[in-house]
Amino acid sequence: MFHSMCEDKIYKNLFNGDWVASTNTIDVFSPVDNNLVGTIPAMSKDEANLVIANSKASQKDWANMAISSRASILHKCAALLDENVDYLSVIMQNEIAKDKHSCDAEIKRTADFIRFTADAGKNLEGETIGADNFPGFKKNKISFVTKVPVGIVLAISPFNYPINLSASKIAPALIGGNSVILKPSTQGAISALHLAAIFHEAGVPHGVLNTITGRGSEIGDYLVTHKDINFINFTGSTEVGKHIAVIAGMVPMIMELGGKDAAIVLCDADIESAGKDIVAGAFSYSGQRCTAVKRILVINDVADSLIIELMKNIKLLKVGAPQDDCEVTPLIDNSAADYVQELIDDALHHGATLLCGNKRINNLIYPTLFDNVTTDMRLAWEEPFGPVLPIIRVKNIEEAIIIANRSEYGLQTSVYTKNIDDAFNIANQLDVGTVQINNKPERGPDHFPFSGTKSSGMGTQGIKYSIEAMTRSKATVLLINP
Ligand code: NAP
Ligand code: G3H
Repeated sequence: MFHSMCEDKIYKNLFNGDWVASTNTIDVFSPVDNNLVGTIPAMSKDEANLVIANSKASQKDWANMAISSRASILHKCAALLDENVDYLSVIMQNEIAKDKHSCDAEIKRTADFIRFTADAGKNLEGETIGADNFPGFKKNKISFVTKVPVGIVLAISPFNYPINLSASKIAPALIGGNSVILKPSTQGAISALHLAAIFHEAGVPHGVLNTITGRGSEIGDYLVTHKDINFINFTGSTEVGKHIAVIAGMVPMIMELGGKDAAIVLCDADIESAGKDIVAGAFSYSGQRCTAVKRILVINDVADSLIIELMKNIKLLKVGAPQDDCEVTPLIDNSAADYVQELIDDALHHGATLLCGNKRINNLIYPTLFDNVTTDMRLAWEEPFGPVLPIIRVKNIEEAIIIANRSEYGLQTSVYTKNIDDAFNIANQLDVGTVQINNKPERGPDHFPFSGTKSSGMGTQGIKYSIEAMTRSKATVLLINP
């Protein structure tokens, strides 16, 4: 199934059921050891026009296909993913330096996501509404409301979950009757193209899923402003997300952007379990998750005991190559590591206490923990997307809430406490998409609603919510003559 998409590491795009090359190409190197993972097409605007026209022409027949038939294709796709976990995992480990355990988990989770989406799609229902529900109207009108596709969904995915965050856009869009154009991140594109090959092999009709590779900085603006794109489903940085929101105009969109998720630790928390959970939340995949714990707000009285637990668990982290199942692996590129180093240096310069880490070998940064981080340091506010965790000591719950909410981001916050009243009172005051109680921030299970406030995004993902977002209610009104 993967043979026709690539020859000698030269990958092609899926276009109308065929794999096609472009004149210009981009070499993708591994963040692990700089080996050449492969070469991908850098599509031109003219080529992109052909793709968009083809996606438009293919959408109607797909929308007319019975939902149960669309669901069967998605089930086949999930089965193919399950069969290819080992093969895909090796590609991902090499391309994005994610550890084997997390790659395997991402692929299996994606298969479950697609299956659940197929079944959820079968429950897509409209409704009928009588006019007399509204004051002053009689029983002589009925509105038949059906769910119809929006048209062409442009799915733009980030490097850190090239399979899952591509599929979490593609599958709900497809079950809703849309055609999809996938523009994966350049680093991660080879993993994502394999996912496209699986959808193709499963029987998604020609042109219903097409791919466009190329640097976002070159082709991105053209795609998001193209008149035939009907929906943009974007995951990535706040900087790029805001830029797209400004230029794209009146196109509906979902934006999943950056975060600065806090772990608030209260005096009565189970400190042992909180310490373990926070370390897993902060350092898995080297902190390159939107939902990583990116700051700790701990009540001063329990800060020292929390630090003992954090240090105990950080010492257990394996650092090195993803193929050796290390949790802390090289960052996606050198400039990402430079940025993390900048934040570390700024914290040191402003007097934060380094508890461990600040060791770097090229793009590999060792897990770094800082105590006594204060609100005048960049590390208190900026998203490192790397393995560095600041501890901000607070005197009470009120101060924790104020600092948590002062962030420009609003993705998730965790609250560790045994007092359920405190937990809910704090949750009510936090301006975020999700509050986790005694649990690290995380997206799954994938049918839960997932959203961010402020610079963390707009719209809601989660299987049912994503399908709803990428379909619209169409009303047909019948006037009954007496
Ligand atoms: P990124 O640099 O913003 O890239 C995301 C995607 O946008 C890539 O496919 C990129 O393509 C493309 N792109 C770049 N410029 C574009 C433009 N002008 N128009 C259209 N597309 C454009 O983000 P990243 O580094 O891949 O991912 C890390 C960030 O994503 C972090 O901030 C993280 O918090 C966030 N994230 C958020 C969530 C969430 O659910 N909230 C989930 C995962 C990640 P190229 O690769 O070709 O540049
Ligand atoms: O990076 C953003 C992902 O949506 C986070 O998913 O919480 O399962 O790691 P996760």
